[in-house]
Amino acid sequence: MKRKKISIIGAGNVGATCAHWAAAKELGDIVLFDVLEGVPQGKALDLMEAAPIEGFNCNITGTNQFEDTANSDIAVITAGIARKPGMSRDDLVTTNARIVGDVARQLACYSPNTFIICVTNPLDVMTYVAYKKSGFSANRVFGMSGVLDSARFRTFVALELGVSFEDITTLVLGGHGDDMLPMVRYTYAGGIPIEKLIPAGRIATLVERTRQGGAEIVNYLKTGSAYYAPGAAVIQMVEAVLKDKKRVLPVAAYLQGEYGARDIYLGVPAIIGGGGVEKVIEVDLTDAERQALDKSIQSIKKFISSF
Ligand code: APR
Repeated sequence: MKRKKISIIGAGNVGATCAHWAAAKELGDIVLFDVLEGVPQGKALDLMEAAPIEGFNCNITGTNQFEDTANSDIAVITAGIARKPGMSRDDLVTTNARIVGDVARQLACYSPNTFIICVTNPLDVMTYVAYKKSGFSANRVFGMSGVLDSARFRTFVALELGVSFEDITTLVLGGHGDDMLPMVRYTYAGGIPIEKLIPAGRIATLVERTRQGGAEIVNYLKTGSAYYAPGAAVIQMVEAVLKDKKRVLPVAAYLQGEYGARDIYLGVPAIIGGGGVEKVIEVDLTDAERQALDKSIQSIKKFISSF
């Protein structure tokens, strides 16, 4: 069986960490592309030299030539500038839209059958740009946000309860920003609703920490934003597509009437498999959740109206 080809556009912190997780899981051959000369080459070679130690078999190539990404099965866009302290994700919009638009056009040209997972922030807007500029069908272009946001919420809930991280399941809806919606009603510890285990005031604190999860890391790092958990989240999605796993994951998906929104990318639960976003799943919302989601939709719409 021929190995899958995974291209990662942008060999910075998130891109290189994606390559690391993908290699460790032996998901396919990896191409790291960046505009910086030497950086993708150096990181790719360094990572491949871990293969004899870790026992994975994949070729990892670094390049500044876009044609080396040709015929990718899946591509991850992390290219752009990262958020600095005091800067909101939305401040990044103009620069990153230019970069992501250009990358999406080139991907469509060199890899007409690829899937695209967008990671560059502001995520929901950049995924929309990638969709428009690639000209691909919506199931083939989606964004990584909810897997990371829900992983952060799961982490905080697990720490609060002193239980295994993997036993916490949850759902985070909405934009990948301050108005994201961690869904407490859909959060369980080993099947038990967390509302039966944690006082409401503490849950509210964990929800707020999740909303500020990206900023918390930025404030520590000072010169960049998170990359270990984002990289792991992306590769969970890549694996779901390449292995046709039919995972139910929260992703930034294109909406065509679901959740009362149209022509917009928004974080929603979806079935992710060999067809990319195979189905968006709609869940019931309370009036308060509906209002919060509408706020998220309006703030994304404000930006995408210019693309
Ligand atoms: N093509 C390819 N790579 C590019 C381009 C381009 N046109 N423009 C910039 N890059 C590269 C940069 O050279 C850099 O190596 O994108 C990389 C971005 O890496 P970092 O600055 O380390 O940023 P990172 O932390 O990886 O975050 C990337 O993901 O989570 C989001 O907000 C984050 O938007 C940011 C993105």
